[in-house]
Amino acid sequence: MLTKHANFTFMTKVLVATEKPFAKEAVDGIVKIIEKAGFTPVLLESYSGKQPLLDAVVDVDAIIIRSDIIDKEVIDAAKQLKIVVRAGAGYDNIDLAACTARGIVAMNTPGQNANAVAELVFGMMVFFARVGFNGKSGTELRGKTLGIHAYGNIGKLVAKIAKGFGMKVYAFDPYVSHSVIEADGVVSLATVEELYSMCQYVSLHIPATEKTIKSINYTLLSKMPKGAVLVNTARKEVIHEDDLLKIFSERSDFSYLADVQPSKVAEFEQNYKGRFFFTPKKIGAQTEEANINAGLAAAKQIVGFITNGDTTFQVNK
Ligand code: 3PG
Repeated sequence: MLTKHANFTFMTKVLVATEKPFAKEAVDGIVKIIEKAGFTPVLLESYSGKQPLLDAVVDVDAIIIRSDIIDKEVIDAAKQLKIVVRAGAGYDNIDLAACTARGIVAMNTPGQNANAVAELVFGMMVFFARVGFNGKSGTELRGKTLGIHAYGNIGKLVAKIAKGFGMKVYAFDPYVSHSVIEADGVVSLATVEELYSMCQYVSLHIPATEKTIKSINYTLLSKMPKGAVLVNTARKEVIHEDDLLKIFSERSDFSYLADVQPSKVAEFEQNYKGRFFFTPKKIGAQTEEANINAGLAAAKQIVGFITNGDTTFQVNK
């Protein structure tokens, strides 16, 4: 006869719901971890619209997601759900209050895809500084000032790469001590205003929260020096788009590079050709390595939680 624990384990279903699918190697690794633990993997990849997700969550105990939206409707539909793990850093796509109300654990996998995002920052900056590789004379990053807005896992890696490029690196993060930042040979600034005033390039690494949404506004952006380039691999929501467009209309020297198009992309395309670069879909973490790191970490965290009650990386404590 099966013990209660074994019976629960046998029945445990883990859904991998990825509208933007992981690399095959990552999916194979995730499935292996889930099956080794005696659980049943269920794959929902490259879906469109909400209904497939609502249907898929009905009888699952755990979900691995990327930027997939886990709102109250999804949580209400997921009657057996015990844990949702965002394979990535930002968890603004999960309704944490709805999870907490149902006793569902929400986690992320901090740092696992950070290098992919940091490398993209430089990919976009070099591409733009060299005029889209169109053969015209461009500029170099060496000797330029770079301001890192938030010094977490990605910010730290951006600083390391920037130093290799010979950039002058500054950072602002009220949650990280000056000594930690300065230990990396980065100048730690006391105010966000100083960062924007001093740096030609500013790279954003803040999460999207109630406090940060639309916080990158006219007051801050207007402080940036001549030839300003704002680089956003964080979230489009942190930008005050109307303010950014106002700056664009006032200053022909201002440029914006973003991993994912802004909501008002048509206005940029109509009026400001050559002063922006936007990826068509969020691709910061879209590397085989990042998929493997974040995907496998998510699967292991689910196994650790269900088998041992391990709540490391829980974000709704
Ligand atoms: C993150 O928060 O980890 C990144 O934005 C990556 O998102 P993605 O998994 O949808 O690519």
